[in-house]
Amino acid sequence: MKKIKPSINFAGILNPGMRVFDVIMRTEYGTSYNSYVVKGAEKTAIIEASHRSFSRLYGEGLEEALEGRTPDYLILNHVEPDHSGSVACLLERYPNLQVLASQAAAIYLKNIVNREDFKPSIVRDGDSLDLGGKTLQFISAPFLHWPDSIFSYLPEEKTVFSCDFLGAHYCEPGVLDREILYAPEYFAALKYYYDCIFGPFAPYVRAGLQKLKALDFDTVCTSHGPVLTKDGALGRVLELYESWSAEKQAGPARIPIFYCSAYGNTKSLAQAVREGVLGAIPDAEVPLYNIIEHDLNALAEEMNGSDAFLIGSPTINREAVPPAWQLLSLADAINIQKRPVALFGSFGWSGEAVPHLSERLQSLKCAVFEQQLKVCFVPTQGDLAAARAFGEAFAKGI
Ligand SMILES: Cc1cc2nc3c(=O)[nH]c(=O)nc-3n(C[C@H](O)[C@H](O)[C@H](O)COP(=O)(O)O)c2cc1C
Ligand SMILES: [Fe+2]
Ligand SMILES: [Fe+2]
Repeated sequence: MKKIKPSINFAGILNPGMRVFDVIMRTEYGTSYNSYVVKGAEKTAIIEASHRSFSRLYGEGLEEALEGRTPDYLILNHVEPDHSGSVACLLERYPNLQVLASQAAAIYLKNIVNREDFKPSIVRDGDSLDLGGKTLQFISAPFLHWPDSIFSYLPEEKTVFSCDFLGAHYCEPGVLDREILYAPEYFAALKYYYDCIFGPFAPYVRAGLQKLKALDFDTVCTSHGPVLTKDGALGRVLELYESWSAEKQAGPARIPIFYCSAYGNTKSLAQAVREGVLGAIPDAEVPLYNIIEHDLNALAEEMNGSDAFLIGSPTINREAVPPAWQLLSLADAINIQKRPVALFGSFGWSGEAVPHLSERLQSLKCAVFEQQLKVCFVPTQGDLAAARAFGEAFAKGI
């Protein structure tokens, strides 16, 4: 058990061996499911619970962090199952435990806890909870990163419980940022976490940072990774969130072209399409990427941050090739809507790649260019001229 502040104990679970989170995130440095016990003169609150698979271990650590007390409240800043999976177990153990969460969270919780008698109490922005000399204040933080997210603030200890905000899938034996031994790895994990979890919500991140600025705090108890302190990484982490979420400066249009090509046919098309785009917008930045030669997350950042983009894929086994799908699986479904996109590719006989990718991008509500460039096997000079015209027409419409 670790003391964070005189009235705050750490009761979280370290999971250093985890390598994949939520199927889609890599966690090279493991993670932690942070949970905290806050002790007032009269009442005791738990903030955040844990992943269901750790319920027993979590229960043991929690018991120690409670230091003989019976908890009165469980506050869930957001109910994704990494934090709420063990709620049902906690309710068995402490039948009088009152669960507090936002309105949206309460609805989700019913379907996570699955108990007829389960009645969470709803907290609204500005509500507070008196623990006896210690007061938890609740601040709504929508879309950081679920609709239900809130921050909890304990002014007497200058501490914010920020949920996933400012967190990272990162695990070292020390719980505090001042104990981090591998700082570059921690900051890499912080950035990756930001990109995956908060990248789609930049305006909400800016709003969240504004809300934090109005508070007097020196410690942030996140839900994953190290607890952030003024003497440790807190200032740096806040600065990084400011810069990552800053509004994009207007500059030349950035129109990346992503392609795959087994025999160079789709590649030739990509090069000709690029010439066409530059013919229409000479100062555009039009980087050309063979998808399999680059880090997929870096390409996803490029795609998600672009003004428009194109994807080229040959048809193999009646389908676009897996790297093209993998890239699209990392599309920021919120901000990619209305983004101008165009598709092209070489094929041999059936040519499904382009229409299949097009369907997917339409379902993401992108502005899919009505022309599709499909060329049978090796492009002729005429096909390359058509590819240039295709790139030019697409760029003119952006
Ligand atoms: C293993 C394999 C499977 C293929 N399957 C299809 C297919 O189902 N339908 C089709 O139209 N073309 C198919 N093709 C043909 C390719 O789409 C064609 O060779 C194309 O020109 C390759 O373009 P690239 O050089 O850009 O990879 C296949 C090719 C290979 C090597
Ligand atoms: Fe989450
Ligand atoms: Fe989480």
